[in-house]
Amino acid sequence: MSDFCEAHKLEEIQKAQFQTGSVPNKSLHRFLTSRISSSQPPGGTFLAKPEIRHAGIVDVQFGKDVTLIQPVNLYGCTIGDGSFVGPFVEIQKGVKIGQRCRIQSHAFICELVTIGDECFVSHGAMFVNDLFGTGGPAENPELWRSTRLGNRVSVGTNATILPVTICDQVVIGAGAVVTKDITVPGIYAGNPARLLRRL
Ligand SMILES: CC(C)(COP(=O)(O)OP(=O)(O)OC[C@H]1O[C@@H](n2cnc3c(N)ncnc32)[C@H](O)[C@@H]1OP(=O)(O)O)[C@@H](O)C(=O)NCCC(=O)NCCS
Repeated sequence: MSDFCEAHKLEEIQKAQFQTGSVPNKSLHRFLTSRISSSQPPGGTFLAKPEIRHAGIVDVQFGKDVTLIQPVNLYGCTIGDGSFVGPFVEIQKGVKIGQRCRIQSHAFICELVTIGDECFVSHGAMFVNDLFGTGGPAENPELWRSTRLGNRVSVGTNATILPVTICDQVVIGAGAVVTKDITVPGIYAGNPARLLRRL
């Protein structure tokens, strides 16, 4: 049997076990389990071999005193002096992060985003450049739109920033969805984000 057939057969046995509560062919099950676990590559089970690409840190311009916590995916971007990037962050090509910023774990900063100095992008904050305005993902990058954050902008945990411009000295609340430009310094929250109070 090929590796694929063995994996498929084992899957069938496991399905039957789930449905009936017992293993239909115990010796075949034992055989397949040992064969497949010994033939698996480290790190995963492949029924069909996926194409694996690696990002890591590629073609990034770092200022002085930048700290990164691996694993990160940073490519083609610029990170200013004294900034910090936490783990599981992705920053795409062309992004510029200013000086003394903190980009906390699990944030995603897509192409066409520019972030000023002393900004805080909290855990899981997401930026958007493609609004799916033509009915789905725009394959033509000319349809993508940019986002610009001024200085001292703090983006709360899990906030989503659509393509907008945000002025200096703004706080975006946790879970907010920013759909429009922000031109007045203040605290904004909710979906869509609204001014809670001026700063
Ligand atoms: C938005 C935020 C800054 C507001 O703080 P605040 O000025 O102290 O506001 P309050 O807690 O007094 O809340 C004022 C009102 O806004 C609402 N509100 C507060 N935060 C909100 C949020 N993230 N989303 C929606 N509404 C929010 C409150 O329920 C309250 O509503 P009410 O007047 O109807 O009772 C804060 O709640 C927040 O979300 N901070 C983000 C923190 C963060 O993500 N830190 C990451 C590092 S751990």
